Amino acid sequence: MKVLVTAGPTREFLDPVRYISNRSSGKMGYAIASAFVRAGHDVTLVSGPVCLPAPEGAKVERVISAADMLASVRSHLEECEVVVMSAAVADWRPRVVADEKIKKHGGSMVLEMEATEDILMSIKPLKGTRTFVGFAAETGAVGLEAKRKLTAKGLDMIVANDVLEPGAGFEYDTNKVIVFDRKGNRTDLPMMTKVDLATKLVKMIEAFRL
Ligand code: PMT
Repeated sequence: MKVLVTAGPTREFLDPVRYISNRSSGKMGYAIASAFVRAGHDVTLVSGPVCLPAPEGAKVERVISAADMLASVRSHLEECEVVVMSAAVADWRPRVVADEKIKKHGGSMVLEMEATEDILMSIKPLKGTRTFVGFAAETGAVGLEAKRKLTAKGLDMIVANDVLEPGAGFEYDTNKVIVFDRKGNRTDLPMMTKVDLATKLVKMIEAFRL
């Protein structure tokens, strides 16, 4: 299968030296890309800025912002049969990006933000027979929120993690997730390494497509 995986955070600049981002290390997405390669698939990894080596055997496209990531995902979508969006795309960006470093003046500043592109919502009309898998990073009501995103974003499957749980979500080498699919199945997986989880998710995605 031809698979597109996204990983890592995006950066949304407010001036040439500062940006808004999040804690994503890219470990989950890179593990998924590697697991698809090991399973014999043709993998393109669209990666935000992370400090990880490129997964062997995957084509890697590096991007910075949510807008860059959307452009890259769109450019590869046509050829892909499976899209796995594990990237933590920034939801907002500064409305104005200053050309020069913003000078310090006084003790506070107000930053006006605007919504970034929602990548999954943007590609939803182009889904066709492709399998779309999303992630949900939640801090409460994990199941409820994940199922809402599954439906709203037109996904086949969503992998939900509670990012407040020690050992799960951002930065850890481990994760603990619940997988929901559009057929109504719910699979609770125990805490395991992101490498093992990625192998499991690839098998679940392959089975879903049968
Ligand atoms: O990178 P690690 O340190 O290993 O951490 C892994 C992880 C916590 C980043 C990963 O497991 C995870 O949860 N990734 C999704 C993070 C996220 O952005 O979740 P969300 O609930 O805000 O978004 C829901 C889905 O919409 C996601 O598939 C996301 O990629 C997508 N999205 C979000 C915002 C946006 N503007 N466009 C999108 O397509």
